[in-house]
Amino acid sequence: MSTLRDLAEEHTHLRPADIDHLHRIAGDWQLLSDLSFADLLLWVPVDADGTFLCVAQVRPTTAPTAYQDDQVGRIIGGSEVAHLAVAYSQGRIWREGDPVWYGDVPARHEAIPVRLRTADGEAGEVIAVVGRDTNLSTARTPSQLELNYLTTADDLAQMIADGTFPPPRHPGETTSAPRVGDGLVRLDAGGKVTYASPNAQSAYRRLGYASHLVGEDLAALHRRLAGDPLDGTEAATGILAALRGEAPPRREIDARGATMLTRALPLMPAGVPIGALVLVRDITEVRRRDRALITKDATIREIHHRVKNNLQTVAALLRLQARRVAMPEARVALEESVRRVASIALVHETLSMSSDEAVEFDGIVDRVASAATEVAATEVSVGMRRQGSFGVLPAEIATSLVMVLNELLLNAVEHGFPSSDEADEPVPAASGMVPVAAPEVDPALRPEVVVSAHRFRKMLHVSVTDNGRGLPPEFDAERGSRLGLQIVRALVTGELRGTIELRAGVNGGTEALLVVPLGRSGLDGRSQG
Ligand SMILES: Nc1ncnc2c1ncn2[C@@H]1O[C@H](COP(=O)(O)OP(=O)(O)OP(=O)(O)O)[C@@H](O)[C@H]1O
Ligand SMILES: [Mg+2]
Repeated sequence: MSTLRDLAEEHTHLRPADIDHLHRIAGDWQLLSDLSFADLLLWVPVDADGTFLCVAQVRPTTAPTAYQDDQVGRIIGGSEVAHLAVAYSQGRIWREGDPVWYGDVPARHEAIPVRLRTADGEAGEVIAVVGRDTNLSTARTPSQLELNYLTTADDLAQMIADGTFPPPRHPGETTSAPRVGDGLVRLDAGGKVTYASPNAQSAYRRLGYASHLVGEDLAALHRRLAGDPLDGTEAATGILAALRGEAPPRREIDARGATMLTRALPLMPAGVPIGALVLVRDITEVRRRDRALITKDATIREIHHRVKNNLQTVAALLRLQARRVAMPEARVALEESVRRVASIALVHETLSMSSDEAVEFDGIVDRVASAATEVAATEVSVGMRRQGSFGVLPAEIATSLVMVLNELLLNAVEHGFPSSDEADEPVPAASGMVPVAAPEVDPALRPEVVVSAHRFRKMLHVSVTDNGRGLPPEFDAERGSRLGLQIVRALVTGELRGTIELRAGVNGGTEALLVVPLGRSGLDGRSQG
């Protein structure tokens, strides 16, 4: 179906500002429809020949519709639009005439001219007509509520004709709430309540006001009710602004554990401020759910924070033990464990600072990488570089991936660029491997490890490449008895459900290629654009 803008641009000569105004009407006219118990159709004149095109329609939520079929896009002319033509050419609300029949539904037609005020506040030209069509089949003697609604509807209809309704929109306000059915209060020019719908009365009761609202000074009441004096003053200010003819933003009032959303609208038909309309809605339940969500987030963050602390304690204990053991091999082993635990703690630290179960991974990689260079033999300084971006990763991938990267980076530094005394020693490798002399490293090539990451078709491709001395000839990735690559294999094929390959780099050195599917958590697409 075409939008209001498409239809207006295709069939009329309305200016962009006119079309914007029609959009504003269609954004706020549910209120008028509900108060009128009527369908509203927005008609724009098509040609000089007196035909009109329907560009928008809204049905009342308070009464049966007069139109079972959608009217948008309909073009009509002749006697059917006579009332629209009067409102359009004479610039006045048309409401005389007999009921019209749609099939077996009797309807009353009214027509409200739509004006757009000029920049200097003058009532401008009529740019469109709102048809207000009431299904009369269920009409009966109106109740007090209905009479009050209809009176207010007439005031708003006049304001559409004046160009003062709908009021300008406040930035960030997208909601149409509160609606008429949520609760409606009408004030006279002095700010006293002249009518309050039963739902409005109930909403105030939840805030702790049990008496009848009629006769109350609503601004003063809001100031009294609000738990926080500042909120109370704000809420009161809003109502006073509406009484002056301004349209304040929606406000919330908290009192006694309940929350009420309020919207105050000025009533000023024909430019005369006669009072205000205040729509209210009890949103206690909505806010309670919001708060529960926020608490849940905070709890998860707190848990990550504690996990991080516990891991750091474990790392500290291991470090302590490493210092105490005399056997060098045992000490090295314990120090490695310290690094492994610390790298997991890093992920939990990041998670404890983010608002969701996902981490911006690049920062973690950079920290793990710089930690890895620190363990490199002091005489070789190994450069570290990251290419591309890991983006945001779900927590369950991040924890395993950081461990894998930690091992690959440590290997690249430790085995790719061994310190000179080690280089001549047997290469610590899988049992049974025969050590070989290291090939000459091109002196022009600075020792460097590059971590690169990119995403492609819901897969994360990662490579850790060094330009070091390369894998030992008998290297067998599947059968190593050392711990590092075993951890890597276990995590990659287990938790990560990915693949890993270690091979000689194109320009010498070693290349570890890792592919991890991202599809299962639904978080993968977030930082791809
Ligand atoms: N980037 C690399 N360059 C050269 N050799 C490597 C590289 N990565 C791994 N290797 C070889 O593979 C072997 C196995 O690595 P692995 O990480 O499993 O054990 P490790 O590093 O010797 O001990 P650790 O259990 O402390 O990690 C290494 O000993 C080394 O010979
Ligand atoms: Mg290793």
